[in-house]
Amino acid sequence: MATLVTGIGELTTNVATDSDACGTLHGAAVRIENGRVAWVGDARRAEPAERVIDVEGAAVIPGFVDSHTHLVFGGDRAEEFAARMTGTPYAAGGIRTTVAATRDASDQALRTRLHGFVAECLSQGTTTLEIKTGYGLDVESEAKLARLAREVTDEVTFLGAHVVPVEYADNRDAYVDLVCGDMLSAVAPYATWIDVFCERGAFDVDESRRVLQAGIEAGLKPRVHGNQLGEGGGVALAVEMGAASVDHCTYLSDHDVALLAGSDTVATLLPGVEFSTKHPYPNARRLLDAGVTVALASDCNPGTSFTTSMPLMIALAVREMGMSPAEAVWAATAGGAAALGRTDVGNLAVGSAAHLAVLRAPSRIHLAYRPGVPMVERVITG
Ligand code: NIG
Ligand code: FE
Repeated sequence: MATLVTGIGELTTNVATDSDACGTLHGAAVRIENGRVAWVGDARRAEPAERVIDVEGAAVIPGFVDSHTHLVFGGDRAEEFAARMTGTPYAAGGIRTTVAATRDASDQALRTRLHGFVAECLSQGTTTLEIKTGYGLDVESEAKLARLAREVTDEVTFLGAHVVPVEYADNRDAYVDLVCGDMLSAVAPYATWIDVFCERGAFDVDESRRVLQAGIEAGLKPRVHGNQLGEGGGVALAVEMGAASVDHCTYLSDHDVALLAGSDTVATLLPGVEFSTKHPYPNARRLLDAGVTVALASDCNPGTSFTTSMPLMIALAVREMGMSPAEAVWAATAGGAAALGRTDVGNLAVGSAAHLAVLRAPSRIHLAYRPGVPMVERVITG
């Protein structure tokens, strides 16, 4: 059965033309067959279809690709957030609080909460999600988180190297050995990606390289958390390892920017973190002007960014990071797809997944223009 989505006032296809990376069409329609985009064009030239959805002039964009989340965890850290808002600085040590709560939670409690978050994402237009482990930090708990994440997405990332857990505080080498050995073996069957928090207070560059190398040998693809809390070697390591993405990129040297510009590694910016930690927002303009591919993601996690809202990321990127609305929407869709090495999502080319977000607005600019207002009217997923 074919479905025709028609009456689209402004369609963002992300099929680039010379002058428009968003491949914008007006008065357009999209024909969907077998969950894929079968045709895109002028609504007046569309063939009839069994089912017709007339969106009456609304803007339509590809569903958001949120390429960085930590959605399987127990507890929350509302008090830590409140303290930060009145002056306590963020330290990654809070991760251990969530690890304790996550280890204590039952499978069913974690699963119920995860499904709630996935529904929350979908209702706000996110149709592709990456989910990381990283709040278990022992073999059994990390495997459990990966297995639960795999129930809702194919894009599962092993982040055993999030921080060194308390029980290994005096023996970090042994913990890195565990991550690269038994923990990796237990998690790899559920995961696609290997990640490491390469940052002062978490893992140094040599430790991070070991973790990424072990993951690659186990068949996983690398991505990196880097340059979140200060300058450091995360970006250089990500480029060296051919990582699909290096995420945060809040503190970058000119050399880091040049390395990214000369690589295929996507810079994934996570402004929910700066909102919640009061660090300065990353400078997207500097990256875009250097020719770096930029993605936006939520980093939804209980410590530094407890939001699943991609429209909020777009609004922050436009208001605080020097992106145009079109650039921000591209980064939250096609950019996220690039960060996951995907070409079948984040765009509405013929053959791509028919993931459409219908906005309660005549143009995508409203995603930033009307911050805090739910702008996604409906989501079509095939
Ligand atoms: O992506 N950067 C490392 N990890 C998370 C924060 C985790 C936490 O504080 O619980 C992040 O921001
Ligand atoms: Fe993260």
